Amino acid sequence: MNSDPDLGPRTPVPPSRLPAVGTTIFTVMSALAAETGAVNLGQGFPDFACDPSLLDAVAGAMRAGANQYAPMAGAVVLREVMAAKIEAGYGRRYDPGSEITITAGATQAILTALLAVVHAGDEVIVLDPCYDSYVPGIALAGGVAVRVPLVPGSFRPDFGRIAAALTPRTRALIVNSPHNPSATVWTRDEMLQLQALLAPTDVVVISDEVYEHMAFDQPHHSASGFDGLAARSFVVSSFGKTLHVTGWKIGSVVAPAALMAEFRKVHQFNVFSVNTPMQHGLAEYLRDPAPYLNLPAFYRAKRELFRAGLAGSRLRLLPCEGTYFQCVDISDVSDLGEADFCQWLARRHGVAAIPLSAFYGDGFDQRVVRFCFAKETATLEAALERLQRL
Ligand SMILES: Cc1ncc(COP(=O)(O)O)c(C=O)c1O
Repeated sequence: MNSDPDLGPRTPVPPSRLPAVGTTIFTVMSALAAETGAVNLGQGFPDFACDPSLLDAVAGAMRAGANQYAPMAGAVVLREVMAAKIEAGYGRRYDPGSEITITAGATQAILTALLAVVHAGDEVIVLDPCYDSYVPGIALAGGVAVRVPLVPGSFRPDFGRIAAALTPRTRALIVNSPHNPSATVWTRDEMLQLQALLAPTDVVVISDEVYEHMAFDQPHHSASGFDGLAARSFVVSSFGKTLHVTGWKIGSVVAPAALMAEFRKVHQFNVFSVNTPMQHGLAEYLRDPAPYLNLPAFYRAKRELFRAGLAGSRLRLLPCEGTYFQCVDISDVSDLGEADFCQWLARRHGVAAIPLSAFYGDGFDQRVVRFCFAKETATLEAALERLQRL
């Protein structure tokens, strides 16, 4: 107790666990879009509604009384639906009892997987550019992030460089296909190369597959579809991405029972269990696979609209094999660096985008920015009209 009358209340501020972390570029660009009235193609979320029958299913679950704690690993019905979905899609049967857990979104699943397997000083390989939660998650787990670049220009995995980064301290490797931000999709051959590279090691894979139903030109190749990878992988999915409900923050993770047992030890004292009515609503809704089987065609049409609109502009289109992102090279439009270009684009031309440099540890600037095309046709047309004038 503080008995000295001269000492008022004070807030002790311990050294930051994440000293390098500030406000994310997504928050900055969304705020700028709101301030300037720019069309927001920055942050990755749909501006259209989800299927009303999904809302009905969740509301029905609430009315039916599914409002108390779900089992720690998730509602049994949803785990059973996920087991069937994954088996139908990728040919592997995960046991709902011991190998599937429902999470509060993919971000939580990835952090929990890291906390479950990474010990102080362990190395975790990420492939730059990468989603911004990975490296802080590794730091919180006490690990050391080892950033290996994807091949500049093509964003393909460079197995020579990944092999060179493997050490006896490498605990895990995070991969993400379809890939945010580059919109590449790993080929079957690349998955096989990863499997072969890791075969003699004890490296755990965290496979972030939140865009699994947005692969346009070839099927998505899940780590769960390869015996050698599935045996060492946490495979992470997001209902938010797949069903146009990013704000629901609900996802799932599958892994062999031995890995999942460690995952659940962390999950039960962090989240314990995810909200119940949404799990029941999702289970009911997902009995019909049509919504996610139709997703590639749905987003392919948006991709075509957006790419056709940009084709006549001075922005140079990069390939878009998957996700709902389109990257463009800005060098024919402006001499600005990526971050300054995005500020200029929002303020002067009314469209918000994200600089790719935000996804690199060293802020590498290759004059490429990312647009999100998960938007209504009217939104995309409003943005295109502005972008065509650049
Ligand atoms: C690659 C990647 N992983 C994970 C997430 C987060 O998913 P969730 O909202 O389910 O946490 C995102 C969201 O943008 C993402 O792009």
